[in-house]
Amino acid sequence: MSAPDEQICTLISPLDMHIHFREGAMLRTVAPLSARDFAGGVIMPNLVPPVDNLERLLRYRAEIEAAISGMGFTPYMTLFFRAYSEAELRAVRPHIIGVKLYPAGVTTHSEAGVQNIRDAEPTLEIMEDLGIPLLVHGETSGFVLDREREFLPIYAHLARRFPRLTIVMEHITTREAVALLDEYPNLYATITLHHLQITLDDVAGGLLQPHLFCKPIAKRPEDRAALLRAALAPHPKVMFGSDSAPHPVSAKEAAACAAGVFSAPVALPLLVEIFAQHDALDRLQAFISDNAQRIYGVTPPHKKVILQRKPWTVPQRYGDVTPYYAGRTVEWQVVQTML
Ligand code: NCD
Ligand code: ZN
Repeated sequence: MSAPDEQICTLISPLDMHIHFREGAMLRTVAPLSARDFAGGVIMPNLVPPVDNLERLLRYRAEIEAAISGMGFTPYMTLFFRAYSEAELRAVRPHIIGVKLYPAGVTTHSEAGVQNIRDAEPTLEIMEDLGIPLLVHGETSGFVLDREREFLPIYAHLARRFPRLTIVMEHITTREAVALLDEYPNLYATITLHHLQITLDDVAGGLLQPHLFCKPIAKRPEDRAALLRAALAPHPKVMFGSDSAPHPVSAKEAAACAAGVFSAPVALPLLVEIFAQHDALDRLQAFISDNAQRIYGVTPPHKKVILQRKPWTVPQRYGDVTPYYAGRTVEWQVVQTML
C-alpha cells in the first residue's frame, strides 16, 4: 500500500509547446481538451492556406480564443515560415512566440515550405536580430527512418551561422538529436508523449496501426530510451510538446493514411503515469512547464492542475477523431484545476 501523497500529483501551469488545433468544427472539438489540462501551448500554423500573415494570424487566434474562452489557456501563436521582410516581422513580433519552418512537402500541409535552406537565411538573419525563435520540422525527404538524422547537419549549420537565434528542434525522435543539444548553446527541443512510449514496432510490427502513424515516424528502442532519459532528467533544453495532430477517422483509417497522433486528451495523465513509473514525479514540473518558460521567456496564466491515481478508460472518439490510447486504461486523471 503506497502512501496517500503518492496518489496525487500537482502541476503548476502545464504547457504543451507543440499542438495542432486546426480550424472550424475540429478546432471546437479539440482545443477545449488541451485548454482543460494545460495553461498554454504553441499553436502550429500549418493550416490551408498557411498562417503566414498578421491578418490571418489574428483571425486564427480569435477563433481559438472563442473556443476556449475562460479556460485559462494562452495560445502562443506561430507564423508559417516564408521569406518575410523586416517590416512584416516587426509588425507580427508582439503576437507570436516564433516562426515555424517546414521543409517543403515533408509533412501534413507543408507544401508551401522551404525548398532550399539557403534561401531562408535572409529571413533568419532578421529573426535573429529581432529575437524571434525559429521552430523547425527537421526532416529531409530521404529514407523515412533516416530523415531526422539527415537533417541534423542543417540544424548544426543554422546554430553556427545564427548563434543568437533560438532554434527549437521540434518533436525529436532520435538519440543523435538528443546528443546535438549539448553541441550548440542555441539549440533546444520538444519531445512528444508518443515518442516516449512507442517504436516503429508499435506502428507497423504487427497489424498496421494508423492512429500511431505520424511524422516523424517512431524509431528504434534505443532512440526511445534516449528520449525518455532526456525527458525524465529533464535535460534543461527539452520541453514537452505533444504534437497532438487530429485527423478525422476517415482520413486515418484509409488507404492513404494521414500522419498525426491525437494525444491532447490523454497527454497530461500519461506523462504523470510515465514519470510516476520512473519515480520521477518531482521532475515533471520542469519538463512540462518550467523549462519552456525559461527557454521562451513566457509566463503563462497561473493554473494549478491536480491529478489523482484513479484509472479511467479513454473514449473511442472525440467528435470524429480517435485519440491515442482509445479504449485503453490510463492510471491517472485530472481531478481539479484552479486558476
Ligand atoms: C502533423 C499534422 O497533421 O499537422 N502531423 C504529424 O504527423 N505530426 C504535422 C507535423 O507536425 O508534422
Ligand atoms: Zn506538428
